[in-house]
Amino acid sequence: MKHILVLLAAMLLVPLVATMAAAAAETNFALAGKFVPPPASPKTGEQPTVAPIENETPAQRNERMAWWREAKFGMFIHWGIYSIPADGEWHMRNKKQPFAEYSKFASQFNPVKFNADEWMALAHDAGMKYVVITTKHHDGFALFKSQASSYNIVDATPFKRDVVKELSEASPKHDIRFGTYYSFLADWGHKGGGAGCPHWDPAFQDGDIHDYIKTVAMPQLKELVSNYGTLGEFWFDSDGAKGITPEESAQVVEILKTQPQLIVDPRLPGVKGDFGTAEQHMPTLRPAGDWELCGTVNGSWGYTHSDAKPLNKLLPYMITAWGMGGNVLMNVGPSPEGVIPEDSAQRLREIGEWLRIYGDSIYGSKSGPFTYLPWGTATCKGSTLYLHIFDWPANSRLTVPLINEVKRAELLGPGKHDILKTELDRGRLIVHLPKKAPNAIANVVALTIEGKPHTDYVSVLLNRPVRASAEQKSAAGAVDADEPSRWRNTEPKGWLEIDAEKTVTVATMRVTPFDGIKNCALEYKEGNEWRPILTGLKLDRDCNVRNFPPVTAQVFRLNILDSDKPPQISNLELYPPL
Ligand code: GLC
Repeated sequence: MKHILVLLAAMLLVPLVATMAAAAAETNFALAGKFVPPPASPKTGEQPTVAPIENETPAQRNERMAWWREAKFGMFIHWGIYSIPADGEWHMRNKKQPFAEYSKFASQFNPVKFNADEWMALAHDAGMKYVVITTKHHDGFALFKSQASSYNIVDATPFKRDVVKELSEASPKHDIRFGTYYSFLADWGHKGGGAGCPHWDPAFQDGDIHDYIKTVAMPQLKELVSNYGTLGEFWFDSDGAKGITPEESAQVVEILKTQPQLIVDPRLPGVKGDFGTAEQHMPTLRPAGDWELCGTVNGSWGYTHSDAKPLNKLLPYMITAWGMGGNVLMNVGPSPEGVIPEDSAQRLREIGEWLRIYGDSIYGSKSGPFTYLPWGTATCKGSTLYLHIFDWPANSRLTVPLINEVKRAELLGPGKHDILKTELDRGRLIVHLPKKAPNAIANVVALTIEGKPHTDYVSVLLNRPVRASAEQKSAAGAVDADEPSRWRNTEPKGWLEIDAEKTVTVATMRVTPFDGIKNCALEYKEGNEWRPILTGLKLDRDCNVRNFPPVTAQVFRLNILDSDKPPQISNLELYPPL
């Protein structure tokens, strides 16, 4: 049985040119395509982060985060003059267009079909609870009226309407919280704003970042928090650029304080974010704390002609994130006419239809107790555990590795909920399902349980002793159930050996390398010999799941035979057959 994460990994392997370029410009602050945690304590040499709210108690924080944790689902909108060339929001940089040439798109930008109410009604129909729009992306063009720069939609286009204003006013009418994305440190449209990237138009782009912050970014930030009502989420982006001083970050914090309810992302150095971001990348393990996955309906952020992904990819992808306790911010890229492409809109409505039936299992939910389930994932709310089934079992018996006592099992659906029979079989809970899955993509069983959900289905390698070909120090990071900590080898070849400390039988491997690996093998030790379990493995940089006929042994190793870079393993797990 192919696990869904394999599909997801494959799907995520079609990254945007933009994302690849951003990944190359990787820094401590923004690992494009990777998880960016809210900064905890600064590493030596890093700028300390300041929270916009001083001395907030855990209870106050819970209150501030409450709507966001309930909401679970938002709309990301990447829109700007880059929709005209229709090859994504990085058009200017990818094509190395001088400002004088790129900025001509502004005079052509006339989205006469734009209707804020239609967009917000769509978000509502999709079951979304908040929206985050790119008020200014890295190209520097603002979608709002700004006194700080005339390079904005009101002053520089024939359209002359402040779409940020219109959206901020429309959203509450549709029960949607309004939020803003703002590229603070990356700005290819203002002198000094390109500090984080090579300059392809030096005559225009060379300049002082502090002048840019003072004359453009800071005033525009003030405009955004002053002129557009109560904001929900503030999403800073910086394309990994550094250079902001602690004093400047402190000024940002002062401005953010004027909207003390704001929920802020972690991408501006010096400003303490409220949640971690995972960008087009599904974490393998549940990240600590609040987090948000941002992904795209059609594979790109800004408008392109690519088709919306099918529902049977999008929905399990989103539910997998919800199963790990995340929020999902799903992106659409409207056209230069101001229209959300119909296939994207249609996909969102289909998601909304699913949520209208199964939304109880999502809104306000927390992650389930499992790190891995071969057939799906789970969320949890109070004494209810919601099992999300992507692979309906052919024999109608769903094996659930749950320790708790189950009081009731119900199959959710559009009408009345069917009560399901359960039994215990060799220590495993079996839920008896109907022969035919009611929903073609994702079904939900609600279990009413006694106590907090617990499982004993964990990796046999979890926190076990590790030896490595090199960099012994970091090796434990591969088996500690913490994705950011990882084994970093020094050579392109190498091995990681784990002693399970008792004889175990395993049948599934999950492995997440930081970069792809061209060839490796999973082996077990018999006497003094290494025997193969899986050979010729090519691993993606996301989670790779492989099933194999059960093997009984105590010591296992991942043997890396060919890799472009010294391998880094974020996570390595082996599971018994379920
Ligand atoms: C990356 C991309 C950027 C996009 C952002 C959204 O940083 O480079 O274009 O806006 O991801 O998460």
